[in-house]
Amino acid sequence: MHILARITPPSAPRFFFFNLSCKFLSAMPEKRPLQTSQSDTENDSFSVSKKPSTVSIPVSESESVSDLQSTELAVDSSLSKPENPAFSFFATALKNSKYFLAPMAWRILARRYGAQVCFTPMFHAKMFSDKSNRAYFNDMWQTNEHDRPLIVQFCANDPDSFLQAALLVQDSADAVDLNLGCPQHIARRGKYGAYLMDEWVLISKIIETASKNLKIPVTAKIRVYPEIEKTIAYAQMLVKAGAKMLTVHGRLKDQKGHKTGLCDWTKIKAVRDSVDVPVVANGGILYFEDVEYCLKETGANGVMIAESHLYNPTFFNNDVSKTYEVALEYLEICKSVLTKPAYIRAHLFKIFRPCLSTYTEQRSKLASAVTLEEFTSVVLELKAELQKEESNSSFDHNDIQFDSYGYKMLPNWVCQPLVRTQFDPKTSVSKIPLGRTIPPK
Ligand SMILES: Cc1cc2nc3c(=O)[nH]c(=O)nc-3n(C[C@H](O)[C@H](O)[C@H](O)COP(=O)(O)O)c2cc1C
Repeated sequence: MHILARITPPSAPRFFFFNLSCKFLSAMPEKRPLQTSQSDTENDSFSVSKKPSTVSIPVSESESVSDLQSTELAVDSSLSKPENPAFSFFATALKNSKYFLAPMAWRILARRYGAQVCFTPMFHAKMFSDKSNRAYFNDMWQTNEHDRPLIVQFCANDPDSFLQAALLVQDSADAVDLNLGCPQHIARRGKYGAYLMDEWVLISKIIETASKNLKIPVTAKIRVYPEIEKTIAYAQMLVKAGAKMLTVHGRLKDQKGHKTGLCDWTKIKAVRDSVDVPVVANGGILYFEDVEYCLKETGANGVMIAESHLYNPTFFNNDVSKTYEVALEYLEICKSVLTKPAYIRAHLFKIFRPCLSTYTEQRSKLASAVTLEEFTSVVLELKAELQKEESNSSFDHNDIQFDSYGYKMLPNWVCQPLVRTQFDPKTSVSKIPLGRTIPPK
């Protein structure tokens, strides 16, 4: 197996005790009709980016940032108070969970298969709290009593809109999260997400204001800096401002698209070791086995999975799942939960990605399907084709083989993560596919 990781040897990792049994929530969502609007956006949690014309973001503050950063760069040991209430929030509201799902619409399916804490998609705080136009709020906000523990995530670049948006959900959520990790170009234009990374005074005010005025905890999701000390100081600044949990995506702001590259778990560990709030590690996890390795390497309290879960919604169950079975289960859920056709289509494209280059006719049908009946019919066609392949195959799910890079060789009816074979040599450690931070052999 090749080594993909830049990993430090485990050094006395901090272990926390978790509720190791997964929470299987058999969600019984409220009955709502299938929405068939043609103007749906893709099922991309950054879907706000598809509506730039409706986004109006105030100019962010920039004064005294460098002052704050230079004084904050020193590691602040006063944060290591064992009685920090962040851990009681983690233990009670979040039930000491380990398996966090990144913001995706299909929380119901995810929870059935072991996701213990779900984040909502990232909502635009200003649009969400706009009293003069409730369309965005009504379109985006969807939950029910089974949808817990739940963290509602916003992008914001001013304290008031974050607070106002959070006030609207605080009775139905366990925490609100400020997304400081979004690297998309719309985030650059709007100056939020990862593009606030240099606005420490502003970030601090956003978190502090919300922390002081909400009855639920405020958390933050961050990316890391090239410098480990700056990353630590950044995390400590967030905690000092009131963040009760940090989700750390171990990539830099610029590591996106073909520059995604490897995730640096050593920085996640550095944050874990420097703050006294729960830390959730994110990035570079492709298979269930990677979860324990990541927890061991980083000492984090939990892991958040994003992209791999889109391809395999049963990820946390550690099973070999069949794409068509998962797809049919998802469609059953969609019968009773308001789900936009664009969302369904995008999810089915991801689930069936391994086989769609073979079944191009079904691929076209999937692209044009709108109703649940149409989606179900394509899935049943794929099921029939895949079952034929399955019956002629010698694949043994108890004896999975690995390719020369260490990736699992799975047949096209099995849910499997996307393995990127294109990479940027500048950000990779060797000429191997990227995406997974795997244990050295
Ligand atoms: C389609 C898609 C949508 C995402 N939407 C969000 C989001 O709304 N908020 C967020 O914090 N991260 C979002 N992310 C980033 C993930 O949370 C995560 O940080 C990143 O994908 C790395 O984790 P992974 O290696 O498990 O995918 C998104 C990622 C993908 C692929």
